[in-house]
Amino acid sequence: MAFVAPAPAEAASTLGASAAEKGRYFGTAVAAHKLSDSQYVSILNREFNSVTAENEMKWDATEPSQGRFSYTNADRIVNHARANGMSIRGHALLWHAQQPGWAQNMSGSALRSAAINHVTQVASYYRGRIHSWDVVNEAFADGGSGGRRDSNLQRTGNDWIEAAFRAARAADPNAKLCYNDYNTDGVNAKSTGIYTMVRDFKARGVPIDCVGFQSHLTNSVPGDYQTNLQRFADLGVDVQITELDIAGTNQAAVYDTVTRACLAVSRCTGITVWGIRDSDSWRTGANPLLFDNNGNKKPAYTAVLNALNAGGTNPGGP
Ligand code: G3I
Repeated sequence: MAFVAPAPAEAASTLGASAAEKGRYFGTAVAAHKLSDSQYVSILNREFNSVTAENEMKWDATEPSQGRFSYTNADRIVNHARANGMSIRGHALLWHAQQPGWAQNMSGSALRSAAINHVTQVASYYRGRIHSWDVVNEAFADGGSGGRRDSNLQRTGNDWIEAAFRAARAADPNAKLCYNDYNTDGVNAKSTGIYTMVRDFKARGVPIDCVGFQSHLTNSVPGDYQTNLQRFADLGVDVQITELDIAGTNQAAVYDTVTRACLAVSRCTGITVWGIRDSDSWRTGANPLLFDNNGNKKPAYTAVLNALNAGGTNPGGP
């Protein structure tokens, strides 16, 4: 009988399916008001298996006046995701920006209690439905200090971050709890400050499960991007690329590099791009996403899909 070579495994044809074959997710930021745009929804449902609410789970959206919680827009995204089998990244319980006016005007122990109550209430409301929460977003300073960013939250005491993580764990024991930040795309003073905090949290039993690297990039990615992901993973946390967008020249090549870096780190459990079409991006005019304004796949899309199809598996799953 003639030998018939086995057919090569069929390459997946969407981002989500390909990532899933590698034990990972591929997600996008979603804006609730765009769920009535049929082109947007058809790309979302075809390509992605994870979503992040772009603005709808932030403090100003979910607790517009103190103690009065509002989940209508966040729930539209959560319900869409669940109906379509997508996992959900919760973004973000505490952040210095997009606070409701009432919180911006608070300080000291009153703000601390209000912030922890916010974490408890929102994480409890969504208990069991969130894959990963950004418990704290962007709490470290830019520049060379490696220290915390000044904010009303930071002024309540340096332990505000661990207090938030403990409250989130109590409220939703099964969600992965992440610290999320930007300008952390290589080994630098800011990423090392965060690394030192995560190492300390792990040593003292503060509940932290993951670190998010936003990865808002222009033209290039630091040569030690993968090394940086790996050093965090080696602390015993998952790493996730949480808000990826890439402006400027070399876009497809940089998307390829970032995707391969995640796949090369077994604890890199997923990638989220910060929007679907260029016209959906917060970076107006930068065209940093995978689909053009008409919803067509760009070369950057093909680069990511090919990198996913070529990449390594994650034995732990997402
Ligand atoms: O909702 C109001 C609307 O009522 C008002 O009419 C309109 C007028 O400007 O503003 C609307 O709010 C805007 C909001 O997005 C919702 O569209 C804000 O002005 C605008 O500042 C806000 O921008 C968001 C930004 O976070 C706020 O800091 C972007 O959409 C969102 O993509 C961006 O996402 C952040 C991540 O959360 C954290 N990392 C950085 C990333 C990019 O900045």
